[in-house]
Amino acid sequence: MKFYIATDHAGFALKQFVIDYLEQKAHEVIDLGPTSDERVDYPDFAKKCANAVVSDNGSFGILICGTGIGISIAANKVSGIRAALCHDAYTASMCRAHNDSNIICFGERVVGRGVVESMLDAFCETKFEGGRHGERVSKIEGCQMGRVE
Ligand code: RB5
Repeated sequence: MKFYIATDHAGFALKQFVIDYLEQKAHEVIDLGPTSDERVDYPDFAKKCANAVVSDNGSFGILICGTGIGISIAANKVSGIRAALCHDAYTASMCRAHNDSNIICFGERVVGRGVVESMLDAFCETKFEGGRHGERVSKIEGCQMGRVE
């Protein structure tokens, strides 16, 4: 799989760990920054990653901040992005199976590295189920356009 990854300063320490873990499993990971743990604003990095994912068909994203909350909220403002804030292997698997999520988000201050590995494995191994879930996912763009009936 091809991934774009970005963080803020509060997710920076986990970024290289995630890159190494995925590369060792033969995934491609493109680092969109930041390049140090100097304070930055998570919406700037959410936007970089979200724009890269929507512009590169079939790619996925990983976003990390302190809690995963702010960076996931920001990423979901980009049309075509379904960013899921995950806390464990179950949520990481379900966001692929039912929500066709194209970005996984988590909080460096929330999850340990073992949990991160299990979430990445679940996210990579789970396919979108389609069917009724496909119809629901199609309605998500309608929500963004303020067209929910
Ligand atoms: C930064 O201190 C922190 O607010 C940020 O990383 C994130 O947790 C926001 O949702």
